[in-house]
Amino acid sequence: MAAPIVKIEQVSKSYHSQGQDTLVLSNISLDVEKGEVISILGKSGCGKSTLLNCIGGFEQVNEGHILLDGQEVKKPSKRCMMLMQNYGLLPWRSVQKNVELGLEGMNLSKSEIHERVNDYLEMVGLADRANAFPSELSGGMQQRVAIARALAIQPEVILMDEPFGALDTFTRYYLQDELIQIQKREQTTIVLVTHDIDEAIYLSDRIFIMSANPGQVHKEIKIQGSKPRDRSDSDFQHYRELIFNEFQFTNKQAIEYNI
Ligand SMILES: Nc1ncnc2c1ncn2[C@@H]1O[C@H](COP(=O)(O)OP(=O)(O)OP(=O)(O)O)[C@@H](O)[C@H]1O
Ligand SMILES: [Mg+2]
Repeated sequence: MAAPIVKIEQVSKSYHSQGQDTLVLSNISLDVEKGEVISILGKSGCGKSTLLNCIGGFEQVNEGHILLDGQEVKKPSKRCMMLMQNYGLLPWRSVQKNVELGLEGMNLSKSEIHERVNDYLEMVGLADRANAFPSELSGGMQQRVAIARALAIQPEVILMDEPFGALDTFTRYYLQDELIQIQKREQTTIVLVTHDIDEAIYLSDRIFIMSANPGQVHKEIKIQGSKPRDRSDSDFQHYRELIFNEFQFTNKQAIEYNI
C-alpha cells in the first residue's frame, strides 16, 4: 500500500494561557490515505479545530510529528488547504476576488482564473453574486464562497472545519453531493470536522470519535458501502446508532471522571 498522504504520529499539543499549560491534544496517532475522506467527531472544545490547525501547519505540535506526503508539516501549504470554521473571507474583496485569492501565484492566465472561479461559484450557486462583498451576503452564502475558494485551488488535501454548519438542510445535502463528486473526480483527500453524525456517515470512509480533556482518539469506525449513501437504509441506521452509543459512552465517562 502507498504511504499515507497525512500521517499523525503520537501528537500532543498544549496551550499556554493565564499562567498555565493546558494539554489540548494527547498522543494522537492516525493516518489518512490518499483519496480518503475521514471525519472527526467530538464534543465542543475537545480539540478538533486544534488538530486541523496542526495538520494545516497553522499551529505547531509540542510532541510527535505530522507528515504531509512524507514531509514534516512546518507551515501552511497550498497542497493542504484549510476551510476555516469562521469562513476566513476578506471583507474588502468581492466574492470573485475572494475566490481568486488562492489562485494568485499559481501560474494561471487571467482567463483561466476567471473560468475556474466562475465554475466553482456556479457549483455553490453564487455565480450571480460574483461582484458582491461578503457583508452583503447571508452567513450561508459566505460559507459557500469559502467552500468555492478552497475547492478552486484543487488541493490534494482539504481540511474542513464545520463547512456546512450554517447552511439550510437542502443546501447542505446538495453541497455534500457536490463534494462527493469533486472528491471522486479529483481524488482529493478530505479531513472533515463536523458535529453532524449523519454528515459524517454520509461522507466518510472512516470516522474518528474524539474524547475531551485532553483530546484523544476514542474510537475509529470504518464506514462500509459505496457513495452516495442512502440515509434511510438499515446500514446507515446501524452506524448512526453505533456512533450515538459511543457518544453516550464518552459523556458518561466524562461525568465519572468529573471532567
Ligand atoms: N489559541 C489558543 N490559546 C489557548 N487555548 C486555546 C487556543 N485555541 C484553542 N484553545 C483551547 O483548546 C481547546 C480545544 O479548542 P478547539 O477549538 O480545538 O475545540 P473544538 O473541538 O474545535 O471545539 P468546537 O467544536 O467548539 O469548535 C479548548 O479548551 C480551547 O479553549
Ligand atoms: Mg472547532
